[in-house]
Amino acid sequence: MLQTVLHEAVMAGAQEIKRFFNQTFTISNKEGRNNLVTEADHASEKAIIAVIQKNYPDHFILTEESGELPQNSDYKWIVDPIDGTINFAHGIPINCVSIGIEYKGNVIMGMVYNPHMNELFFAEKGKGATLNGQPIQVSKETDAMKSCLVTGFPYIYLNIENSPLQVFERFISQGVPVRRLGAAAIDLCWVAAGRFDGFYEHKLEAWDSAAGYLIVEEAGGKVTDFTGGKFSVYQHRILATNGLIHDQMLSIINNTSPSA
Ligand code: IPD
Ligand code: CA
Ligand code: CA
Repeated sequence: MLQTVLHEAVMAGAQEIKRFFNQTFTISNKEGRNNLVTEADHASEKAIIAVIQKNYPDHFILTEESGELPQNSDYKWIVDPIDGTINFAHGIPINCVSIGIEYKGNVIMGMVYNPHMNELFFAEKGKGATLNGQPIQVSKETDAMKSCLVTGFPYIYLNIENSPLQVFERFISQGVPVRRLGAAAIDLCWVAAGRFDGFYEHKLEAWDSAAGYLIVEEAGGKVTDFTGGKFSVYQHRILATNGLIHDQMLSIINNTSPSA
């Protein structure tokens, strides 16, 4: 039942993405330069919330554009109505709907759908991860220097130690390819599918990571913060890998020797 409603909600959002993609829509700006929200983000979110509330009126919902719709419930739906909004606004077909479901504070189900590629990623805690119904697995690469990585950059640049640009330079200067797709949920799913060996980002929100993080773990990967500690969707930093290059990536991100 939960999975069926999750699928219905994701598809309702995706229908709005398809309806507005490459059409005319209004765009407004949020905090930070170029942090956009479009008419399609709001339409997708509205459609998703309607499906959840129709089936589970007592569930808690957290969304990017509406914030918290609180209920006293063990279930919380964490919704990004369009992940990759800048791509969407520019007609770049790398964007998706991403929804994770928490039960008593743990993500138990996640679904990410890119309607332009017709790719539906799904995971349920303890039951593996799938792409369009077929099981997926992380890659087997053991050397971070031979890996293909992906990252993203926040809209408001972080001028901190081990900043996004410093870490990016450390990988790039060693000849490691680091892609930047512009949709964190898709980045995570592509790690789960073995297309990328690792993904890191300094400032994600719960709606960016909730579904994708479970999908990576269920595909056999590892997800932590930048200390190597347990990942929570409510903290910003994320490192998601195939597990085999995790420690190597941590030492490059933190600029420490592998044994430190
Ligand atoms: C953004 C994308 C991007 C990431 C940003 C996110 P949005 O989400 O996932 O890849 O680098 O940190 O905010 O704004 O397109 O939903
Ligand atoms: Ca997002
Ligand atoms: Ca979004």
